[in-house]
Amino acid sequence: MTPETILVTGGAGFIGSNFIHYLFRTRKGITIVNLDKLTYAGNLRNLEDLKSQESYHFVHGDICDSGTVDGVIREYQPDCLVNFAAETHVDRSILDPDGFVMTNIAGVQNLLRAASEHGVSKFIQVSTDEVYGSLGPTGFFMEESPLNPRSPYAASKAAGDLLALASYHTHSLPVVVTRSSNNYGPCQHPEKLVPLTILRCLQGQPVPVYGDGLQIRDWLHVRDHCAALDLVMEKAKPGTVYNVGATCERTNLAVIRKIISILQEALPDGGISEDLIQHVTDRKGHDRRYAIDPARIRRELGWSPSISFDEGVKETVLWYLDHQDWLHSAVSEDYRTTFRNIYGRPYDI
Ligand code: NAD
Ligand code: DAU
Repeated sequence: MTPETILVTGGAGFIGSNFIHYLFRTRKGITIVNLDKLTYAGNLRNLEDLKSQESYHFVHGDICDSGTVDGVIREYQPDCLVNFAAETHVDRSILDPDGFVMTNIAGVQNLLRAASEHGVSKFIQVSTDEVYGSLGPTGFFMEESPLNPRSPYAASKAAGDLLALASYHTHSLPVVVTRSSNNYGPCQHPEKLVPLTILRCLQGQPVPVYGDGLQIRDWLHVRDHCAALDLVMEKAKPGTVYNVGATCERTNLAVIRKIISILQEALPDGGISEDLIQHVTDRKGHDRRYAIDPARIRRELGWSPSISFDEGVKETVLWYLDHQDWLHSAVSEDYRTTFRNIYGRPYDI
């Protein structure tokens, strides 16, 4: 199915804004409607270049609000809805989970209800590998692995996944759930490890590493994630779950060291060194290792990642160096306060 009108929810955030650009680059004749509440994580600068494009519409609103969601679907009649809207930062979910429960559970249910009532022909719920919980040093999670979320964020996303799949079974809503690993790339909020490391290094400030820094994540370039979602929109069978991972496991310390080495090369006089790495108190309930098996999406949809970690991280670091105004614009008073609460000390930012 080639959708002509796509409703993207949460499109002003990191992956959503990359996805909108990806679709306009790769498809002709589509219309995209972006419904976003513009929380601290939503940034209209990410979509500045599309502002006056006739085939792009921005609606400022909350996915939890039934009037707003019904109104958008009635007005634009989307063929496909791709839901990125979520509260996404694990540390924030530990401090204050209420917003996660609202958006990631009640908001998802509201979208499912509206999509079902209005006959939307594909609903993609963008989810995360965190729903499976933590792994030991070996093995991979498959789509059939039991859900074992261990942070309020992960638990709220797991609930959203289950509601989405329940809508498929109960109301025959053509739902697909995707579970991706850690994304990196342009326009990611600097509360997340990769842009946070870049920002702190540029400021000459300590880079906080939780615990021993040997926790493992599977790193996926955001463009490869967008390509996977594009194929899911086109070809995926309703009722299916797809793991989207790059099979690119790195410890957090390895990621930080890689970023520091790229910055040293780009800014030889910048005074950036591994001395900036500072071990801080570990995240509560910190999951040790995530790893997912993406065999199903490779086999059924022909997707595989095309950007190596070394090339992707280099491109990403250079993007932030070229967009330092973007990076600094994401630092607000709320960010400073949250930062202080998370790290338990008055980090300068
Ligand atoms: P993000 O935090 O950068 O952006 C989230 C966006 O959702 C923001 O634009 C925000 O304004 C919007 N939003 C939040 N609450 C809303 C509401 N109630 N109504 C409407 N809009 C709302 O997130 P991201 O990193 O781009 O993640 C997008 C999706 O992908 C999320 O569902 C997340 O769980 C999932 N995911 C992210 C990653 C990752 O590494 N970033 C990995 C796997 C899955
Ligand atoms: O796995 C997919 C998930 O990846 C997404 O579902 C989440 O929305 C996204 O935020 C991300 O979650 P993580 O918790 O893995 O991402 P974060 O960038 O916060 O942290 C990455 C790793 O780095 C994690 O092990 C915690 C660690 N970390 C993070 C920060 C912010 C640090 O050591 N220090 C830090 O200051």
